[in-house]
Amino acid sequence: MDMEILPLTEKKPLPKDESSLVFGKEFTDRMFLMEYQTGRGWHSARIKPYAPFILDPAAMVLHYAQEIFEGLKAFRREDGTVALFRPADNVARFNRGARRMCMPEVDEAFFLEAIKKLVKIEEEWVPRSEGTSLYIRPTMIATEPMLGVRPADQYYCYVILSPVGAYYKGGLAPVKIWISDHHVRAAHGGTGEVKTGGNYAASLYAAREAAAKGYDQVLWLDAKEKKYIEEVGSMNICFLYDGKLVTSPLHGTILDGITRRSVLALAREMGREVEERALSIDEIFAGAESGRLTEAFGTGTAVVVSPIGQFTYRDKTVVLGDGKTTGEFTKKLYDTLTDIQYGRVPDPHGWVETL
Ligand code: COI
Repeated sequence: MDMEILPLTEKKPLPKDESSLVFGKEFTDRMFLMEYQTGRGWHSARIKPYAPFILDPAAMVLHYAQEIFEGLKAFRREDGTVALFRPADNVARFNRGARRMCMPEVDEAFFLEAIKKLVKIEEEWVPRSEGTSLYIRPTMIATEPMLGVRPADQYYCYVILSPVGAYYKGGLAPVKIWISDHHVRAAHGGTGEVKTGGNYAASLYAAREAAAKGYDQVLWLDAKEKKYIEEVGSMNICFLYDGKLVTSPLHGTILDGITRRSVLALAREMGREVEERALSIDEIFAGAESGRLTEAFGTGTAVVVSPIGQFTYRDKTVVLGDGKTTGEFTKKLYDTLTDIQYGRVPDPHGWVETL
C-alpha cells in the first residue's frame, strides 16, 4: 500500500515550557490515518494535518466500544537523534488485540514504517528536557454506522503524537495505592489483556473513589477470589519480596506490558531471581510488616517505572520504607531502562530503533 503525505495547512507552536508538559494534552501538527472496508481491506493510508474526525453518530465504536489502542514512546537521545523503544512489540500486540476484538489486523511491517515516518516528519516535536518524550498513540476504531451488535465492516486506524513529561504530577515520587475490595477490572475469558478502551472505562469508578480518598491509583485484585494482585490502573506491578522480583503472571486478565517485559529482563541480568506468580494481598501486608517486602513499583510506557510508597486495603495501610523515598532497586531499574531509552548507555538487547 502507498502512503500519501498531505501538506500541512497550519503549524502549531512547539511547547514553550517543556517542564510543564501535561501527559496527553497537547498534540503535534500531523497524524497518520488509514481506512478499512470489508472486501477492500486497508486503503487510503496518509499522513495528514491533525484534525477532528467527522463520525456518524451511529458509528459502532460509540455504542459498543469496538476499539483498541497502543502506547509507545520516541526519545530524544543524548546525541540529538530520535529513537523508538521496542516499537515492533507494540505493533504485534496491536494485532493480538485486533484479533480478540474481531477487528482487521494491520500489516505489521507497513504499520511500523508508518509510525516511524510520522515520527520522523514530526521530529521537532520530540522534547529535549530530562524525562520528556513523544508519546505515540496508535488506535483503531469501528466507524461503520450500524446499531446491530456484530463486528463492524469499516474502521479507522490512526496514530497521534503527544509531547509528554512525567505521567504523575510528582515525577518519580512514590505513589499511594488503594486496593479495591469491591470492583474488579477483568475476569478470566474477558478482555483484560487487551488494550481496549472498555477496560479503562470500567476502571474509572474505582479510580474516582480512590482519588477522592487521596490515592493516586487503584490496585485490582483477581475477579474470582478477590485475593490475588493483578495490576494497577495504568501499569503492571512488581514487588521486591525476599530480594526476588515478584510479579503477577500473564494469564489473560492483565496486560502483557512491554515495559514489564523489559524490566524483568533487566532484573534477571542484574542477578535477581524473577518469579511470575500469584501474590496474595495477605502476603503484601505480612511481607511489608515483617520486612520481607521491601519495594514495589509499577511499570508501563506512560509511567516508565513508578515507585509505590504505600498500600491501603479496607482500613489497613502499609508503608514501604518511609513512603517517600524511591527504593534502591526501583531506582536502579528506572535508571538502567531510561539510560537505554535515552541512549546514555549502549543497548545490548536491540530494543532501541533510531529513526
Ligand atoms: C501506556 O502506558 O502507554 C498506557 O497506555 C497507559 C495509559 C495512559 C492508559
